[in-house]
Amino acid sequence: TTYHVVLTGGVGSRLWPLSRKSRPKQYLEIFKNDSLFELAVKRNQKFSDGLIVVGNKDNRNLSIKSLEKLGVDNYHEIVEATPRNTAPAIAFAAFQVKADDILVVTPADHIIKADIFYDKAVTNAIELAKSDNIVTFGVKPTRPETGYGYIESDGQSVLSFREKPNLETAKDFLQKGNFLWNSGMFCFKAGVFLSELKKYEPEVFENSKSAFEQTEEGRLSEELSMQIPSISVDYAVMERSELIKVVDAEFDWSDMGSFEAVYDYFVESGYPVDDNGNMVIGCEKFTAFVGIKNCIFVNTGDATLILSKEASQDVKGVYQKLKESN
Ligand code: GDD
Ligand code: MG
Repeated sequence: TTYHVVLTGGVGSRLWPLSRKSRPKQYLEIFKNDSLFELAVKRNQKFSDGLIVVGNKDNRNLSIKSLEKLGVDNYHEIVEATPRNTAPAIAFAAFQVKADDILVVTPADHIIKADIFYDKAVTNAIELAKSDNIVTFGVKPTRPETGYGYIESDGQSVLSFREKPNLETAKDFLQKGNFLWNSGMFCFKAGVFLSELKKYEPEVFENSKSAFEQTEEGRLSEELSMQIPSISVDYAVMERSELIKVVDAEFDWSDMGSFEAVYDYFVESGYPVDDNGNMVIGCEKFTAFVGIKNCIFVNTGDATLILSKEASQDVKGVYQKLKESN
């Protein structure tokens, strides 16, 4: 059996103040009245026999509403008490199914064109997963982005995986030419993933297992969840496993992960910028920029953010500070 696992537990802190704890970016209906979460579910229906939604208690209602809107009523929910990042989130889905079942794991917050290239990539990935590979989807890089993982590849073979390198290293990877961006989607047998997790991060494996086994009324226990080390699947498994393969992701892909990505996507879709590359998001007032370049002005009902496009990754820091002071 093949399942689509949609990861929807992140808060999108790099898109503050557009994305909020009460309404993370994947639920914003800014893409022709669909949210990114809805698009992710629709795009993967044809490859899977079932859907597993891994999200947290704070956005559970948003997921339920979206699925109702889509008319999807047959799915399994995993409700996290607190986010522990993607390695535990994927482990919960893997514990839910049989060891031989195949999981197509996707984030809920990407913009992807669901065309024949997408179908081809997912179909190839499922085939490779059947022979016990852990499959990643490699996107041709266009800039030395430091917010992504990089896959050093030779055809479908993966020589190394490096999560979020610094700028210098990212530039070096781009120059070398055989590095791809990790799209953030994965495909593998549940049992293969769990045994690799157990091998490289036994504490994450054991504590996720205990928390999963103590699920009460559909929700994971907060106390046990807090004991799971918070780590992403990229650091926990992808950087270390020797079972990693890559398929070419030739489809249009954009991670709406940072304002820089949003900026690029908006510019491509014809959204206005001024002569110096400055952009306004969400403000109805006339706004002018003088003497500054490549800045983004974000205005929502209760917050304003002004940033230089290049500093997009640092928005996370503002979000963290606000969280601490509250
Ligand atoms: N259920 C659940 N629980 N989901 C989570 C959690 C969690 O604790 N943490 C994150 N997610 C979800 C997010 O909502 C998102 O859909 C997805 O998992 C990936 O998490 P991000 O936090 O957005 O990861 P990232 O963007 O820093 O990096 C990943 O994606 C990049 C491409 O977009 C990595 O896989 C990189 O290697 C990759 O390049
Ligand atoms: Mg992301």
